[in-house]
Amino acid sequence: MSVSTSTVAFDPFSAEFFNDPYPIYRRLRDEAPVFRSEDLNFYALSRHEDVAAAFKDFETYSSARGVTLDQVSSGDVISETLVQFLDPPAHRRMRGLVNKVFTPRAVMSLEPMVRATIERYFSRLDPDSFDAVADFSAYFPVEVIATMLGLPEEDRQAVRHFQDLILGREAGSSGMSEAGKQAMAEHGLMYYNVVQQRRAEPHDDMISALIAAEVDRDDGTATTLDDHEIVGFCILLGGAGAETVTKLMGSAMMLFSRDRDQWEQLRADRSQIPAAVEEVLRFDGPVQYDCRYSLKEVELHGVTIPAHQPVMLLPASANRDERAFTDPDTFDINRDRAQAQNLGFGYGIHSCLGAALARMESKIALDYLLDLLPWFEVDADQVRRVAMTNVNGYANVPIRASR
Ligand code: HEM
Repeated sequence: MSVSTSTVAFDPFSAEFFNDPYPIYRRLRDEAPVFRSEDLNFYALSRHEDVAAAFKDFETYSSARGVTLDQVSSGDVISETLVQFLDPPAHRRMRGLVNKVFTPRAVMSLEPMVRATIERYFSRLDPDSFDAVADFSAYFPVEVIATMLGLPEEDRQAVRHFQDLILGREAGSSGMSEAGKQAMAEHGLMYYNVVQQRRAEPHDDMISALIAAEVDRDDGTATTLDDHEIVGFCILLGGAGAETVTKLMGSAMMLFSRDRDQWEQLRADRSQIPAAVEEVLRFDGPVQYDCRYSLKEVELHGVTIPAHQPVMLLPASANRDERAFTDPDTFDINRDRAQAQNLGFGYGIHSCLGAALARMESKIALDYLLDLLPWFEVDADQVRRVAMTNVNGYANVPIRASR
């Protein structure tokens, strides 16, 4: 087996990585496009062409052992039903089950609820000074997905506290903490109780829809989902819905705080908001990586990745690849987006199911902030980043309005 000889150090659980992964990504792309970590025992792909190809090649790169490094490293099959952890053909069946709720058209019909939810939290902000994440974007995405699922109001915000503990990683540690495991159990119980209530009395919500749905099994039979499967679905959707848009908004405000011209351009022309959301997703997207498990040997850039290995796909690096994007380290809402595929929502069969919803939430929230703030400053001393597996971004972005 040939192994890269580069000296580049890449530890996705180091403080250096959490604080600024982009210089490390550049070195990976240039010096070790197939990186091998002896310490943590994984391979990593960082160039746009390789990451995009691997996302599409599910026959080589399996999702069945999970997508975080600790999941894939354990070597266990994660789930028979959770859409993100399935390979075809089971993936197609499960994605079909929830697809209907997330089509662009179905998401359009959610707009009044999404707008009302965002407005509720927006109206509480002190217009002179607030934290764009802790006071605003931490609240509404979880409220939206928990409302869609059918959680009672008093349980909705708990989802993000559980998710913070489940995804949180102490620097230097790849696995879930004891508090994370405890949160996982309590989180499951919370959903389990709602599932029982909906079995007794269905509502017009996703949990009731999941209870009623039938799915084709491997043996050719069609059966409904059991409690365990529905709770798993809820944890997956709640987590995906809660953490990501929160971080996208924090990153957006950090990026614009360094570029008054683009903020003013956007204030003057709101039709540019969708392009701005895509550029934040490209430049500093919430999902840094998703892992896969190699099902067969791969030969790439002179390196052999053997079968049965964890392989980390780095969309956040791919989105800064100068081989794909002109001037990739410049945040530019006017850039030519047709140049290369933005991999911030993934690519291929597992590409983000909630992309239309995430885009809608982000656009509405940004529009409100543009109304509120002719210009603003971020209190750099109080900015805090998260330390999590897969996702990156800010826990605190304190804003001071300037007029
Ligand atoms: C800015 C916000 C978001 C970003 C950047 C994002 C990113 C991603 C990425 C990169 C993947 C691919 C994972 C992989 O290949 O293993 C993914 C999958 C997924 N996302 Fe999102 N996501 C966002 C918001 C959401 C929302 C709001 C939901 C809905 C509740 C959601 C639900 C999902 C689901 C269910 C999958 C798995 C799809 C499958 O495996 O077929 N995401 N997302």
